[in-house]
Amino acid sequence: MCGITGYTGRSVALPFIMQGLEKLEYRGYDSAGVTLVDKSDLFTCKVSGRLDNLKAKLDEEAHQQTCGIGHTRWATHGVPSQLNSHPHTNSSGTISLVHNGIIENYLSLKQELLNKGYVFQSETDTEIIVHLLDDVYYHETGDMLQALLKVVNRLKGSFALCIVSKEFPDQIYVAKKESPMILGKNETGTFCASDAPALLAYGDQILPLKDKEVAILSPDDIRVFNFKGEEMKQEWIAAPYNIQAAQKGGYDSFMLKEIHEQPRAIRETLRGRIINDEIEINELNELDLDWKKTERIYFVACGTAYHAGISAAKELEKLTDVPVYAIPASEFRYGDPYLNGRCLCIFISQSGETADTIAAIKLAKQKQASTVGVVNVLGSSLTRLSDVCLYTCAGPEISVASTKAYTTQIVLLSCLIIKIAEKINGYKPDIQLIIDFKELPELVEKVLKHESQVKELSGLFKDKKDAYFIGRQHDYPVALEGSLKLKEVSYVHADAYYAGELKHGPIALIEDGTIVIALATQEKVAAKTISNIQETLARGSKVILITTESIEVDGFEYVIRLKEISRCLMPVQIIVLLQLLAYYVAVIKGCDIDKPRNLAKSVTVE
Ligand code: F6R
Repeated sequence: MCGITGYTGRSVALPFIMQGLEKLEYRGYDSAGVTLVDKSDLFTCKVSGRLDNLKAKLDEEAHQQTCGIGHTRWATHGVPSQLNSHPHTNSSGTISLVHNGIIENYLSLKQELLNKGYVFQSETDTEIIVHLLDDVYYHETGDMLQALLKVVNRLKGSFALCIVSKEFPDQIYVAKKESPMILGKNETGTFCASDAPALLAYGDQILPLKDKEVAILSPDDIRVFNFKGEEMKQEWIAAPYNIQAAQKGGYDSFMLKEIHEQPRAIRETLRGRIINDEIEINELNELDLDWKKTERIYFVACGTAYHAGISAAKELEKLTDVPVYAIPASEFRYGDPYLNGRCLCIFISQSGETADTIAAIKLAKQKQASTVGVVNVLGSSLTRLSDVCLYTCAGPEISVASTKAYTTQIVLLSCLIIKIAEKINGYKPDIQLIIDFKELPELVEKVLKHESQVKELSGLFKDKKDAYFIGRQHDYPVALEGSLKLKEVSYVHADAYYAGELKHGPIALIEDGTIVIALATQEKVAAKTISNIQETLARGSKVILITTESIEVDGFEYVIRLKEISRCLMPVQIIVLLQLLAYYVAVIKGCDIDKPRNLAKSVTVE
């Protein structure tokens, strides 16, 4: 989604602003802009398209201002264009601001401002904020903090705001509600950004702004207030990862780098979770839940994290009698789910900032359900909202297409469901599962050795526009995730089906040369899946089969065999192959892998 950076201090602001926006490029955007502050004037420059277009328009040498803000926009209200891009400025050119999020009541506020004679340049919801601020500051308060407090209390929706003005040329005002905003400082000045990678080169301590807080950044000082105007205590934390970790490290893309980081990420996630062959999730003891009376368990998330949730739900329903559901957060929040103090809700998110997931946890809390967050980004909103938070230790995931976040989610959720079952009915896992957990990082290293074979298989997709993923039982959620990876980075249309469902309709799509990726790693149903594969072969499909070393299959041209391990961890091995496949198909198709079209990392709008 959109990116924000801001700097005020004794150094030149533009280099900070631009490097920060570059670090946030992975989030996806379609236009960019900056405002730099002079005592006498604001200088604003905005372009449609990539940051390179902005750089080409800016003479960096000429811009020695020491205070400024920058933005990359991902269009929500109004087409991607120069006019709609941020920063937005009031009519007299004295206040300029950038905004991430969505203002839900912008139409009524716009009408109010139109009635007062304000003129709008853009189609955005953001522009109303700068005019409203102009109105309150110049006609009511004459004090920017008071004006900003009045404005934020009138806005409905989500926002991270960053504001400069020639009225206070060395200050930046920021505000946050439901969209992330992180502050930092060093010996040269103070700064802010919508995500930590933009700050990492400048300091190792960060101050994530809490919901409903505003801050004033001056060259030597940061002050934080709540929306009532009360000054707040600042809770600085160590930056969640270092700058080297956020760079490509010799790989062609972040996606490939992150695929290869999975053994280490899994090792880190498991650190301290298996002690004396017992799984430890002591955080669960902090929940105020009568486990034996648990009525329902929900796994709630979006996209890839939701797919990890489906796998976890399928496993957990086998271990207890409690009804278990996996629900996309966007459906959960509007679906009137059955919720009360005897329900447990597990929210899964890499970023911890996904708007639907955040709204879903708020609903669960409102209904007194116990909440667990499974989150990758430290200090993110979900970590603060959940009753207890478990961290996947995947490190920074920069690639828009999620890879190591998924595998670490599967691993941590597998630990979690066993502990939940233990609390509900005393369940104890087989020692083989403990052995598999311990061996998993090495097993993933082995799976990565199939890379050249997968690269070769990607050649099958050269002239193809479609592919079908099939699998039964616990293979099915992995098929969903494999198909999501393929479509998001290579733009090949991909669908996932339960293998047994094929002949009830989708088989109509199979013709000579259609690619089918079949997952048959579940001993119990493998023979059935093989029969379904035969049905597609009979209609001319080309099948890539992923199965285990022990399952008997014969006569397939393209087969990859994986070690059979405990069912709940099998998705980890399978998906590594499917991630590599998606990656190499995208290479063949010449796609911009780290910046897939229309997609954004961390979807902070509904
Ligand atoms: C797909 C992908 C998305 C995210 C989804 C949720 O590769 O990255 O589907 O999984 O937007 O994001 P988080 O996990 O940050 O809540």
